Amino acid sequence: MAAWAADCAERVLHLFEAEAPADDRPRNAIARARAFARGELSTAGEIRQRFVAGRAAHSATSPAGVAAARAAAQAAGVAHMGAHALGAAAYAARAAGFAADGAVHELEWQLAHLSPEAAIALRQLPPLGDDTAGPLGPGLLASGDLGEHIRRIQADLLRTRDDPRTLWDAEAETFDDAPDHGLLDPDIRRAWAHLLLPLIGGRGRRIADLGCGTGTLSVLLATEGGHLVTGVDFSPEMVRRAREKASDTAPEPEFIVGDAADPPLPLGGFDVVLSRHVLWAMPDPATALQTWLDLLTPTGILILVEGQWHTGVGLSAEECFALVSASRKNVEIRMFDDPAYWGGPVSDERYLIVSTP
Ligand SMILES: C[S@@+](CC[C@H](N)C(=O)[O-])C[C@H]1O[C@@H](n2cnc3c(N)ncnc32)[C@H](O)[C@@H]1O
Repeated sequence: MAAWAADCAERVLHLFEAEAPADDRPRNAIARARAFARGELSTAGEIRQRFVAGRAAHSATSPAGVAAARAAAQAAGVAHMGAHALGAAAYAARAAGFAADGAVHELEWQLAHLSPEAAIALRQLPPLGDDTAGPLGPGLLASGDLGEHIRRIQADLLRTRDDPRTLWDAEAETFDDAPDHGLLDPDIRRAWAHLLLPLIGGRGRRIADLGCGTGTLSVLLATEGGHLVTGVDFSPEMVRRAREKASDTAPEPEFIVGDAADPPLPLGGFDVVLSRHVLWAMPDPATALQTWLDLLTPTGILILVEGQWHTGVGLSAEECFALVSASRKNVEIRMFDDPAYWGGPVSDERYLIVSTP
């Protein structure tokens, strides 16, 4: 959410800087929101600085410049309360509305650039005006054009709630840019290979990669371990990219468009069920997990990579461990925050669960 809020604010930053080029407080606030999104800054430190960028609004004279400074301040405020992300978007739309571009166009851009994770987190916020406390209470953000912009965003979030596929489809284009997604850095790729291959053992194992995304792990396991991988993902765009990525891989993984909560795969047909960063997104993780276990042979191994991100989404290690332990005796959990896997330091809870029969 903080990254999206920073994007929203940055698009209108030029309106402020055209009037106050020497005042770098809004620019710094946006940079801090991004650093917070990367897990590099503490919430407490950001709360202490939360008024800095807002004061910069006095350096601007036009309403567009003032709104741009406030958008940056709201973006930095996400560290304090997630609801400020909507404030950042609304002020950015206001700033764009005063300038030639127009608020409607800006809101469309904002909605089109919302990541699935951010959309899920934003949907957890109360509707504008419902909660008497906090930024979405019946105060400044709830009135006038700011209120209209936030209502428009929240209405769109509700509309797309029932079809998260469209959000993941939109995510597919840039999905591999994240170091742990695309594994484009050879060191990070090697780290994941060294982690996963020994857990799977042997060669030529039948692996189901559930919620396979762009197929990076599927291709890794097929290439490096000679494994026979079937990836399932409900996003046609993710699957299209996975197939493209795998086209010259031997043995070539198969990719199927399907619901990971009810995968179109044979029961008892897999030596390994692997899933990275997907169980948290299942509407009913316990039922999905049971379905996944049913795909395994009697000696099959379950490998889950999950996390609870500082954005608030995800599954805690404790919850996930309890879910798996409800059906399996041998469950091992390993915390998993070595930057070698993620392309940089991480401050949130990430873990690996391996369960043998
Ligand atoms: C965070 S990505 C992880 C992708 C991949 N596992 C990886 O680690 O690179 C989550 C993936 O799960 C997929 N997904 C989410 N809910 C799903 C569902 N119900 N059925 C199938 N795929 C789903 C999304 O389309 C997305 O590709």
